Amino acid sequence: MNQKCNPIGVFDSGIGGISTLKEMIRELPREHFIYYGDTANAPYGTKSTEEVIGCVRKVVEHLQEKQIKALVIACNTATGAAAAVLRKELTIPVIAMEPALKPASEKREGGSILVMATPLTLQMEKFNLLMKKYGEGAVRVPCPGLMELVEADDGEGALEYLKHLFSQFDLDKVDAVVLGCTHYVFLRDMIRDLLPDHTAITDGNAGTARQLKRVLARNGLLNETGEGKVEFETSGGEKDLKLMRKLMQSE
Ligand code: DGL
Repeated sequence: MNQKCNPIGVFDSGIGGISTLKEMIRELPREHFIYYGDTANAPYGTKSTEEVIGCVRKVVEHLQEKQIKALVIACNTATGAAAAVLRKELTIPVIAMEPALKPASEKREGGSILVMATPLTLQMEKFNLLMKKYGEGAVRVPCPGLMELVEADDGEGALEYLKHLFSQFDLDKVDAVVLGCTHYVFLRDMIRDLLPDHTAITDGNAGTARQLKRVLARNGLLNETGEGKVEFETSGGEKDLKLMRKLMQSE
C-alpha cells in the first residue's frame, strides 16, 4: 500500500492537542489524522519524566498498530520528556513542539515574557536550552491544575485561575505571554481579555503544522489526493470523546 495514504498519528495527554490538530487540518486538508487523547493518564505535566515516557510508549504502540506514516506529539510536556527517546526508537518521522518562546522574544520591547506551561515542561533540560537562546526577560510561570479546568470544560474556574495568576505580575510591563501547553490555547480569548492590548500571545500550533507539512514533503509522504479525515480515540470514556468532537467544531 502507498504510504502517502496512511494516517498521521497525533496525541496529547487529553484534549489540548486538538488545538494543534485544527491548525494541521487547515495546513493539510487532504490528510487522514488519528487523534489520541490519553485522558486516563492526564495530566502529564505533574508527573515525572519516566512516568510520562511510560504513558507515551503505550500511546505510540497503539497508534503504530494503525500503520501511521508520521507521529505528531501535540503536547509540549510529552515533547520535553519523550521526543528524543521516540526519535531513537521509531523509524517514522516524529514532529514535536516546544513553547513558542522564540516568536515571543521577537515581540519583546524591553519588558518581560511570561511562559505559561506545565511544571514538568518548565523543569526540563530542553526548556533550559530554549531559555538560554531566547529567554532574555522571560519568566517561568508553571500552571499546575489549569489543564484540568480545560479538560473539565470549566470556563468559570479557568477565569478565576487566570485572574489570580496574572494578579501576581505587573502586566503593563509584560510584552508577551507564551501559551506553552496546548490546552491553554483553548483559553486564548479569555487570556486576551485579561491582558493589556500591547501584550502579544504566542503558541506553537501554526509552527508545528508547517513543520509537519515540511517533513511530510521531504519524506515523500504528502497525501495530495485524499479527502481528509479525522478519527478520535481516547484512553478515557465517552464523555471525553464528546468533548473532543465539540472542541473540533468550535472556532
Ligand atoms: N497539553 C499538554 C502540553 O502541551 C500538557 C497537559 C498535561 O498533561 O499536563 O504540555
